Amino acid sequence: MGGDVSAKIGIGVIGLGWMGQVHSRAYLRLFHHYPECPLRPRLVVAADAVEERARRTAELLGYERWTTDWREVVDDPEVEAVSIAAPNYLHREIAVAAAGAGKHIWLEKPCGRFPEETYEIARAVEEAGVRSTIGLMYRHAPAVEYAKELISSGELGEITHYRGYFLADYAADPGGALTWRYRLEGAGLGVLGDIMPHTVDLAQSLLGPIESVSAQRATFVGERPEVPEGMGTGHFVVEGGEMGAVENEDYVGCLVRFESGARGTIENSRVCVGPHVRNGFEVNGTRGALSWDFQRLNELQVYRPDPTGERGYRTVFAAPGMGDFERFQTGAGISMGYDDLKVTEAYKFLASIAGDRQKEPSMREIVSAIRVVEAMDRSCGSGLWEPVEGARTGAASGGEA
Ligand SMILES: NC(=O)c1ccc[n+]([C@@H]2O[C@H](COP(=O)([O-])OP(=O)(O)OC[C@H]3O[C@@H](n4cnc5c(N)ncnc54)[C@H](O)[C@@H]3O)[C@@H](O)[C@H]2O)c1
Repeated sequence: MGGDVSAKIGIGVIGLGWMGQVHSRAYLRLFHHYPECPLRPRLVVAADAVEERARRTAELLGYERWTTDWREVVDDPEVEAVSIAAPNYLHREIAVAAAGAGKHIWLEKPCGRFPEETYEIARAVEEAGVRSTIGLMYRHAPAVEYAKELISSGELGEITHYRGYFLADYAADPGGALTWRYRLEGAGLGVLGDIMPHTVDLAQSLLGPIESVSAQRATFVGERPEVPEGMGTGHFVVEGGEMGAVENEDYVGCLVRFESGARGTIENSRVCVGPHVRNGFEVNGTRGALSWDFQRLNELQVYRPDPTGERGYRTVFAAPGMGDFERFQTGAGISMGYDDLKVTEAYKFLASIAGDRQKEPSMREIVSAIRVVEAMDRSCGSGLWEPVEGARTGAASGGEA
């Protein structure tokens, strides 16, 4: 680790769908926004199982090589860090192999299909002593960083209420293809794996650990049209075709208790008509309140008693001084975007590799979120309040923000 300002680091990316492309673009832009980053990414090799996608996308993004076999990325001596953006069913196998080969990993959530797979990856990362960064990027939004500051400084008093949500419509159309996301074999959990890690990570990064949960789940779209593996990426609608069963949940609603004593609710859906990506939170303390919605990334609603006696929330714009805002924009009201959050994430990954400390969010933070997910899953089955179990992995490699 360590290195001079111009040191290069060989990068491999596995999976060139939506996230693999976002990671690649983040590496390409990293130096524009974080010129002091001690490592400069060199895009060595990209892999995708679909040959045409691998070739076309790798060429477009400027990789030196492409392959259809992810093992060639992990075994490549010129690759020192690997972005893992393949479907969930490959996370464990690829991440364990990459860590075992001494590669640092930037791994997409949920880090495996089921909690046991996440814990296995955490053990492999710990044993190999490599750095890890996890795709929980909403915490990097400057407005979210500011919310965290307001909460931790005590400005809002004692925090009593929390409402976290991720209400999406990406699967609301019953004609949406039955991709790996809807199969136990492909994705494992449904919204509990796909979006709950984001909601839980935001909740815990703002208010601290969740200690117990009471959850319920539902699958509202029971069948979808079958499609051949690799036909498309992301979410897409197909006409006609054989119907196959959706094997995991569309919806989870949950009551939560935080260790701090705060009480809250968390709700996730992938079939919620109306909001598109209503991913956010509302926090109420004894002296003030705030709320944030990803669809208005650069705005925070803040309520504090006003000396004029006027009541109501104020819109506070993301601005220089909040998180890494000024890395991207010069003044309040000029918007940052989704990909920018991934540039910050890429920086945290390479800075963790170059420095003495692991930056958050690492395997430690995803393990912590997945412990909550596991308790929610148990509660959906038992119908009871379930405690969030303590650390199972010994993965203590988390660190500074
Ligand atoms: N952080 C976030 O907010 C976020 C957002 C979207 C997806 N994700 C995560 O990123 C991962 C990928 O999701 P996506 O939306 O990019 O999916 P996607 O379907 O768009 O892309 C997956 C890609 O992996 C490729 N692939 C499949 N098998 C492979 C193999 N054996 N070797 C190499 N490539 C293979 C597919 O051909 C496809 O191009 C998932 O784990 C998902 O949970 C995270």
